[in-house]
Amino acid sequence: MANTKPIITIDNLHKSFGTNVVLNGFTMDLKEGENVVVMGKSGSGKSVMIKCVIGLEKPDTGTILVMDKEINNLNREDLDELRTEIGFLFQGSALYDSMSVRENLEFPLRRHTKKFGHLKDPTPLVMEALENVGLAHAIDLMPNELSGGMKRRVALARTLILKPKIILYDEPTTGLDPITSKEIIQLMNSIRKEYNTSSIIITHDVDCAKAISDRMILLIDGINYIEGRFEELEASTDPKVRAFFKEK
Ligand SMILES: Nc1ncnc2c1ncn2[C@@H]1O[C@H](COP(=O)(O)OP(=O)(O)OP(=O)(O)O)[C@@H](O)[C@H]1O
Ligand SMILES: [Mg+2]
Repeated sequence: MANTKPIITIDNLHKSFGTNVVLNGFTMDLKEGENVVVMGKSGSGKSVMIKCVIGLEKPDTGTILVMDKEINNLNREDLDELRTEIGFLFQGSALYDSMSVRENLEFPLRRHTKKFGHLKDPTPLVMEALENVGLAHAIDLMPNELSGGMKRRVALARTLILKPKIILYDEPTTGLDPITSKEIIQLMNSIRKEYNTSSIIITHDVDCAKAISDRMILLIDGINYIEGRFEELEASTDPKVRAFFKEK
């Protein structure tokens, strides 16, 4: 893994909202095929950081390379095209409540016609993505007919449908019971194998971090405070690091 080239490089990222300094030099990379977990306290800037990676927030300073392209220099069209390679699982699930599961999954296909062309019948792709999350039978349900865990799976299927090279997960297990969380974690691991994706995973969940990370980074005080394997961080004597492992 050490010799593999980075698919994402974040260098010296700064982002403030007014006087609220959120990111203050955050730096990390994600290598091809790697799963990196980013942990940090609520409000530490994890979601802001990941939104900068897909161009939903603009950094004050710093560079973000995704597949060798500087996100902040891309025009609308190129950014849109790059986004077909980046699946983003939002905090919550962010399904469109007025659309069926099928329509939710068709949405990205219709929006990004460059990658698959104008599909006459998107159903096979929709079914394939749903089968991969074990929800083929739910294709014609509405979001309000789904449980929390099912919603999360549908959201995951919606990011998979474009066959992205990168998946960014923002709190994939938060709000789920321990058993459903485990299922989602297993699913994330099987997706990684099946689709050969690289991922940044934001989580508070120490069990999730342990089960899924090749490497972990703690975002503290706006920077990548410490990084290493789960076991290394767990063994740290630094009180700021220890707090995470006691917290649970
Ligand atoms: N669009 C915005 N405008 C102003 N302030 C914002 C905006 N987005 C985020 N913030 C602020 O930036 C800080 C970091 O927010 P962020 O959502 O990244 O936290 P987080 O680490 O993801 O927390 P959580 O674990 O609760 O999801 C917070 O203080 C938040 O209020
Ligand atoms: Mg967040």
